[in-house]
Amino acid sequence: MARIEPQILPGCPEITLGLINADFPEGPLPPTVMHEVIARPAYWAFCWGSGLALARFLLDEPARVEKKAVLDLGSGSGVAAIAAALAGARTVVACDNDPHAIVATKVNARANGVAVECFADLADAGSGYDLLLMADVLYDASNLGLLAEASAVAEDVLVADSRISSLPDPRYREIATLSALTFPNLGEFDEFGTVRLFQRRWNISRSCRPPGRPPAGGRLR
Ligand SMILES: C[S@@+](CC[C@H](N)C(=O)[O-])C[C@H]1O[C@@H](n2cnc3c(N)ncnc32)[C@H](O)[C@@H]1O
Repeated sequence: MARIEPQILPGCPEITLGLINADFPEGPLPPTVMHEVIARPAYWAFCWGSGLALARFLLDEPARVEKKAVLDLGSGSGVAAIAAALAGARTVVACDNDPHAIVATKVNARANGVAVECFADLADAGSGYDLLLMADVLYDASNLGLLAEASAVAEDVLVADSRISSLPDPRYREIATLSALTFPNLGEFDEFGTVRLFQRRWNISRSCRPPGRPPAGGRLR
């Protein structure tokens, strides 16, 4: 009774994603199915609150992505990547270590009429990005290491997260508090409706250096 169907995002009608039906079955599952769901959670079948909030933020503030090379790390359905492309990014790359998420991102990008190149491994996505996006990826503490990896491949980083109230890296600054629920509604605790947006960026004038390259001896803020 669960299926994937095209759905217009609430509060973000510019984007339609293939997501699980809103009346997906919530009763107990047979043990073998339950084990499979836990072993390989279909995160890509939901648009997570942080991805939804980040998408709205980028569409409302296109200057943050216009003409930039953008990487969406942990793309899931591809919501943030698609928003960046719609907002005028020069190129958009998505990365997710779940092969089903890669398929979902590709299908959803095509359905929204934007080009998004996809990789399963961050190492294959290369470096020199202007901006890296990360939405709802820090639910697993072992993913905190991605903050350092993000810094290595992109000049600026935007992290949207509803699971964590502060980041362990002092170079990240909270720049906004947004509201959004995971869609379709997963019935999460109210506190997960608050999405914090953190930014890490180079503290120098952009006009002094070639695009996509950090400054020699540049300082982080
Ligand atoms: C909760 S979902 C969020 C998806 C999407 N960003 C959104 O906001 O709807 C987290 C996604 O991050 C991916 N992920 C988790 N750890 C990752 C890693 N180390 N590298 C790449 N992707 C990762 C998962 O496969 C999943 O698709």
